Amino acid sequence: MRKVVVTRRLPIDINEALSDFDVDANYTNEPISNTRLKHLTNDAEGIICMLDEKIDKNILESSPKLKVIANYGVGVNNIDLVAAKACGVTICNTPDILTRSTAELGFALMMAAARRLSEGDRLTRLNIFPAWSSTLLSGTDLYGKTLGIFGMGEIGKAVAKMAIGFNMNIIFHNRRVPDAKNLLPNSNYVSFEELLSESDFIVITAPLTPETKHKFTAKEFIAMKKSSILVNIGRGPIINEADLVNALKTGVIAGAGLDVYEDEPIVNSELKTLENTILTPHIGSSTIETRKGMAKMCVDSVISVLKNNTKPHNTVNI
Ligand code: DGY
Repeated sequence: MRKVVVTRRLPIDINEALSDFDVDANYTNEPISNTRLKHLTNDAEGIICMLDEKIDKNILESSPKLKVIANYGVGVNNIDLVAAKACGVTICNTPDILTRSTAELGFALMMAAARRLSEGDRLTRLNIFPAWSSTLLSGTDLYGKTLGIFGMGEIGKAVAKMAIGFNMNIIFHNRRVPDAKNLLPNSNYVSFEELLSESDFIVITAPLTPETKHKFTAKEFIAMKKSSILVNIGRGPIINEADLVNALKTGVIAGAGLDVYEDEPIVNSELKTLENTILTPHIGSSTIETRKGMAKMCVDSVISVLKNNTKPHNTVNI
């Protein structure tokens, strides 16, 4: 039978879903080593992998039967797409299905940072809720403020739609200037410099590419409003984390809500000590419905390539 490797536990019955294949799965949440991955995949025709696994040239070239990789996530910066194309391997991801959940988490982080929810939660649990006071943990409103979106893809658009309910003024910056017909009503394209200087909140929803790596460094934080809040639901390395720590410590910007980190799963230890941050462990798409849907989409991609010999719509390296 044709072998499909599944590199980590998924929230569906993977043997039932791929019953026509010889499934070699890691049924735990523990990541497998690169050496083990290479060993497992050398006779596989399909792989379902996670976004924190590096699928490099070495793995691709040592898996001669490989035809499809379904990445459990939308960002594919973990896969060498050029080498995959050269090896004739179809790479699929999980777009659309996770858009709303990831956008909701981004919005939740923005609200939590604005209203200082993690500080309030800590204070209440530690029994140091002093007495009601007119200034206790005063935050900032979202209503009527300017939201800047860096990377107006599907997730960015979903965040923008939610922001309309808060009467936010929406501006965004993309690498390419979008066509007028692709603009969301109530949102305006601005230069990167304008995004930095005009936003009260910046939400990063861009993918990690050589152009977006370290797009936010000390220089960009200085260009932002002192009162601004930065949210990252894209990829950690888009921000220079050491510079962000410095900016948050010295009041260059007011706060941050982060779901992704430069060196995941390691999180900068100084970042963890800062009160003006809310930190979550890369759970953007983590709702029961979405994570099941993503698993189903990966299974469908494998079946489509291996059984039906067709490239699904979610192929990223056509
Ligand atoms: C993705 O799919 O790239 C997201 O980061 C998942 O949360």
